[in-house]
Parts: sequence; C-alpha cells; structure tokens
Amino acid sequence: MQIRDFRETDCDPLIAILRTNLQYGDPESDGPEAMRRVQACPAALFLVAEEDGVAVGLLRGVYDGSKALIHIVSVRPDHQRRGIGTALVREAARRFRERGATSLAVTVPGDNLAFWKRLSFRLTTRIMAAHRIDAVAGQAEKS
Ligand SMILES: CC(C)(COP(=O)(O)OP(=O)(O)OC[C@H]1O[C@@H](n2cnc3c(N)ncnc32)[C@H](O)[C@@H]1OP(=O)(O)O)[C@@H](O)C(=O)NCCC(=O)NCCS
Repeated sequence: MQIRDFRETDCDPLIAILRTNLQYGDPESDGPEAMRRVQACPAALFLVAEEDGVAVGLLRGVYDGSKALIHIVSVRPDHQRRGIGTALVREAARRFRERGATSLAVTVPGDNLAFWKRLSFRLTTRIMAAHRIDAVAGQAEKS
C-alpha cells in the first residue's frame, strides 16, 4: 500500500468509495471536476491510498497558512481496519507540518470517534456548516 497525491485516473474509483461510504454529497462538491479543482488548489491536500494499482482510500484537507483541516477521509469498506485510514491521516499531518501547520482539525469525524482519538484528536466544539455557499453569500446581483 502506498500513499500518494491524487491523479486524474482516481476519479471513478474514489467516487465509488465515497458513494459506498455514503459520503458522496453533490457532484459540484465531490464529482470529477471538484476533484480536479482540489488537486489544482495550492492550499489543498488530496491524498490517495493505492493498493495493487487501485485507489482504496482518500483524504482531502486544507492548510490556511496557520492551521490545517481535514475535510474527509474515506477507505473502501473491504480494506478498512488495516491501517489505511491511519496512514492517510499521518501522511497528511506530516505534509501539513512541512508546510508550517501547527494544529490539525477534522470537520466531520463521523461516527468513528475511536479512530480519531487513537490519532490524538479530541472532541471540542461542534462545527456549524452551510452546505450551500449561495445561502450565505446571496445570489449574484442581476445586471
Ligand atoms: C473511519 C475510517 C476512515 C477508518 O479507516 P480504517 O482504514 O478502517 O482505519 P484503521 O485501520 O487505520 O483504524 C485504526 C484504528 O481506529 C479504530 N477504528 C477504525 N475504524 C473503526 C470503527 N469503525 N469502529 C471503531 N473503531 C474504529 C480502531 O481502533 C482501529 O484499530 P484496530 O483495527 O486495530 O482496532 C474508515 O472506517 C471509513 O472510511 N469509514 C467511513 C467514512 C468515515 O466515517 N470517515 C471518517 C469521517 S471523514
């Protein structure tokens, strides 16, 4: 198993994993185009776990110049409990630390608090999220 950066050819297997794990939101945020945008974004980190040439897990996160944040970790169900999730988070922590990050948070720990606790994360305040940015920013002005 190796952890590497996302590649274009990962889109289909990663979308299949997200769908199976009920983590696929809408195509605008999670589809192939979004994946390409994340890959191209200098603040983002998009890691893939590969086994026998196939993507079996992913991690997406971001570093804002001070703090780092993991948005999602997802491992193919038939590959879970084999250390892949842990390897993804540890590699993300190393990469963010290299960039200068001093802390690391996860926005959606899901039901697997034991997984995060083993990695030294502690439950703090609840996070509020607006899943549609238009609801916050308002619609574009009509000309
Ligand atoms: C959470 C998830 C990423 C963990 O990945 P993984 O590769 O299975 O995790 P690891 O094998 O590295 O697990 C390390 C340890 O975390 C704990 N752990 C992991 N999954 C767990 C679970 N479902 N229930 C309880 N403890 C769990 C265990 O202590 C495990 O060690 P053990 O297998 O020796 O008991 C994976 O289960 C997953 O993709 N789940 C669905 C999506 C999700 O909830 N993602 C997290 C929110 S973004």
